Amino acid sequence: MTHREIAPEQAIDFNNENANNSANPTFESVLGARLSRRGLLRGSVGTVGTAMLAGFGVSACGGGSDGPEVETPIVPQLLGFTAVGKSLADSVIVPAGYTASVLYALGDPVLPGTSAYRNDGTDTDFDKRAGDHHDGMEWFGLGADGQRNDNATERGLLAINHEATTDEKLSSFFIHANGGASTLPRPAVEVDKEVALHGIAVIEVTKTAGGWGYAPNSARNFRLTPLSPMELSGPARGNAQLVTKYAPTGTTTRGTLNNCGTGKTPWGTFLTGEENWFGYFTRGAADDAARGDKSVVSLKRYGRNQGAASRHGWETGGLEDQYQRWNISKTGASVDGSDDYRNEMNGMGYIVEIDAYDKTRLAKKRTGLGRFAHESAAFGKVVAGQPLTVYMGDDSRGEYIYKFVSSAVWSAADANAADRLAVGDKYLDSGTLYVAQFSADGSGKWVELSVSNPAIAGYAGFAFTSAADIAIHTRLAADAVGATKMDRPEWNAVNPANGEIYFTLTNNSNRSIDPASGQYLPDAANPRAYTDMKGASKQNGNPNGHLVRLKDTGAGFQWDVYLFGAEAGADKGLVNLSALTDDQDFSSPDGLVFSKATGICWIQTDDGAYTDVTNCMMLAAVPGSVGDGGKKTLNHTKADGSILAVDTYVGKAATPSTLKRFLVGPKGSEITGLAETPDGKAIFVNIQHPGEGTAMANISDPAKYQSQWPANAGYGSGKRPRSATIVITKNDGGKVGT
Ligand code: FEO
Ligand code: CA
Ligand code: CA
Repeated sequence: MTHREIAPEQAIDFNNENANNSANPTFESVLGARLSRRGLLRGSVGTVGTAMLAGFGVSACGGGSDGPEVETPIVPQLLGFTAVGKSLADSVIVPAGYTASVLYALGDPVLPGTSAYRNDGTDTDFDKRAGDHHDGMEWFGLGADGQRNDNATERGLLAINHEATTDEKLSSFFIHANGGASTLPRPAVEVDKEVALHGIAVIEVTKTAGGWGYAPNSARNFRLTPLSPMELSGPARGNAQLVTKYAPTGTTTRGTLNNCGTGKTPWGTFLTGEENWFGYFTRGAADDAARGDKSVVSLKRYGRNQGAASRHGWETGGLEDQYQRWNISKTGASVDGSDDYRNEMNGMGYIVEIDAYDKTRLAKKRTGLGRFAHESAAFGKVVAGQPLTVYMGDDSRGEYIYKFVSSAVWSAADANAADRLAVGDKYLDSGTLYVAQFSADGSGKWVELSVSNPAIAGYAGFAFTSAADIAIHTRLAADAVGATKMDRPEWNAVNPANGEIYFTLTNNSNRSIDPASGQYLPDAANPRAYTDMKGASKQNGNPNGHLVRLKDTGAGFQWDVYLFGAEAGADKGLVNLSALTDDQDFSSPDGLVFSKATGICWIQTDDGAYTDVTNCMMLAAVPGSVGDGGKKTLNHTKADGSILAVDTYVGKAATPSTLKRFLVGPKGSEITGLAETPDGKAIFVNIQHPGEGTAMANISDPAKYQSQWPANAGYGSGKRPRSATIVITKNDGGKVGT
């Protein structure tokens, strides 16, 4: 979703929340501690190819949680295409020899019998249509018999997140004829449309002689919205803090919201991460005193101070329950919260498991994986007889990286169980959550988040009494143990070649060498703080972001920075530390997916910092492994002229064959989400919010839209820009990117 990182105080950026005001330090206090272990790592690596094979050798040994199960070694081929140049054109650009086609756009029919999208603001029934802001996405193969088939390459289901809407002021203005109401109260008819634009969709897609298409009349298609009934599962299920007027037993809730990154379980279900849900709720100006309990501490930590306004004003749509639930003030007289929605927000913020193959099953919110601004959920190595691991990030400035380890050990028979959600109950409802603590020597620790950890049991900031407290108030538990503040953890993905875990850290304006209140110093894993110019505007902190990668050793990990985002011409000593060229330079990495077919690491951007030069993009990469580069020292000059030296570890510099730009999107868009057919011959990619930045005053004048995509690519009626899924194939029928 949109970034306006340049001047956060001047613009509303719902994807860039900043609620971590904990005193929890970064590890500048331990800067300078150095171990020689890094030399060992460097010595083990030769060429990229041997690094891959060495890494595979390690993961193939099994045992522990140090990587994904790999049945056959994946050694990525060097990238064979010609790099795409930076672009400000209002179109999708892919390399010569490739074709990109629009498959499924905002408003397209999902449920059978729904009319074609007019795209003029008069359409309704969005619970039967494609939602907005296509985001994370996963492929679920279908055989000729219409059943799950993991080897299918020409027919499948795409499960797609519809994260949010393109807004100016309150309304999602491209879907209302006149742009919608910009003042409160909001008309119910507008609220109903906007609510239904959020959630997820499952659509059937097929390859025919004419290419790829989706099946608008497939009985397998379905939508889930913020009003769809869902089950709460795991340690918080039935907890008193989940009791609402809708759910007096605290075991259910309504809907999913702000779905961003995704995951796919080893048993064939879809995982969707709820990201910036807190912005959708309002809280009364005197609510702290009305509550008078520990819930106030958590509400503040999750960005809902008393008096907070909601993003869209949906609570003003009417007196009916479906509108009132967006007001989380304590308004009722009950002790348990069964007469109001004071606890409603505790039902959002989870990884949600959905059976894409069975629309009759209720989705399950897996509370054991913690509650924060979830992005993707990536599984580590799957080994029979060993626990499963799931890696996750919390995308707000200064938030943390997490790992969940299941209590149950993996049984291979579960991969093909008939009741897939029952398998989810087994592995995702019982386990231990850990948070990452990065050390300056290139190592790190996973710190247990449980009430048996004395740092949590004795935490003065919040009274933790149960596993449900950890599940619901995860950020506070991570504060208690001194987790490392990161530069906005976006997606993560596991390299199938060696099991290492990659995280995009998209950017962070709070990183500073002269920190003001609420800011913090650079540290080894987040070592940059600089000023980048965008025209006449200064962008401070870490405006271009980076990618950190971890080699998990169970109780801890080794890490380095795979790539630093930067402009090619930027200072190579403080900014362009990865020596990116014009064919490689990027800013604000966000979406991140490894191909299981080719081993290629796809890096997608959601940027506002470099958009004076180029629209957002997707790059293809063939990474090495943790420790294949070396130590670098950044000598920052403080305001008083003194030097702050920060050591970091940078991966081996990419070559023209191991990193290059593959795609640039239309104006105003971010590139996010990627799914592939198992043969790697088709990839599905989402173009989110083209035309962002258009002013509502220009709603009636298409010539003033920031984008007219995909209409200008020949897709659909009307010229209003639409988020959309595209499919990319190689014209010679080969694997994409090779
Ligand atoms: Fe929805 Fe953090 O991106
Ligand atoms: Ca710049
Ligand atoms: Ca994202």
